[in-house]
Amino acid sequence: MKKITVMAALVCLVCISFAFRQRAARYKNLKVLPKNTTKQEMDSIMRHFSTSLGVRCNFCHVRTNDAQRDFDFASDSSKNKQIARGMFKMMVKINKKYFKESQAEARSANRIPEVSCFTCHHGKENPENRPPAPPAPGQQRPPAPRTGLP
Ligand code: HEC
Ligand code: HEC
Repeated sequence: MKKITVMAALVCLVCISFAFRQRAARYKNLKVLPKNTTKQEMDSIMRHFSTSLGVRCNFCHVRTNDAQRDFDFASDSSKNKQIARGMFKMMVKINKKYFKESQAEARSANRIPEVSCFTCHHGKENPENRPPAPPAPGQQRPPAPRTGLP
């Protein structure tokens, strides 16, 4: 009886690992993300890219053809996809070198790093590199909110 339970557990493990391997093998052209990235991780990473830049998938991905609306996600024809790979490498380097992020942390898909796409982009394709101008001379700052009774 014990033997059967152990066997069943082993068979289950093999099934599970096979299922995972199948899931991991679905992506064809990963050069910066881990090869075993799962669908759930990919969805969350791609959502982070899109919302950080305030764009949609088509900013970095081309369609299979003009008539079809399907994307060819593995294609590298988009210039922005190639730029995004460079940005990703830069981001990983910054976190590792200046924020001492460990390998384990960097690999954890559930953790957003200190410096993420959003840290710089803030919902824009091109991050702003100047703070807002101070008020011109003579122009008053908006009055501070009143506190207490009138
Ligand atoms: C800012 C650019 C950018 C945006 C926006 C973006 N992606 Fe990506 N996507 C990439 C890059 C770069 C890769 C390749 C990653 C690598 O090389 O490891 C990629 C890879 C993928 C892949 C894997 C393709 C394969 O088989 O190799 C899928 C699927 C994908 N993206 C889906 C999406 C979806 C869905 C959206 C919209 C929600 C989206 N992407 C938005 C840049 C982007
Ligand atoms: C350290 C700040 C910083 C981080 C982090 C960063 N970016 Fe950028 N990114 C920039 C700057 C600055 C530009 C504009 C460069 C220029 O104008 O030549 C830019 C431009 C881009 C562009 C080209 C946009 C266009 O319209 O030409 C893409 C695509 C992009 N970033 C994707 C990403 C993605 C995806 C991430 C996260 C993996 C990311 N960036 C993280 C600073 C950053």
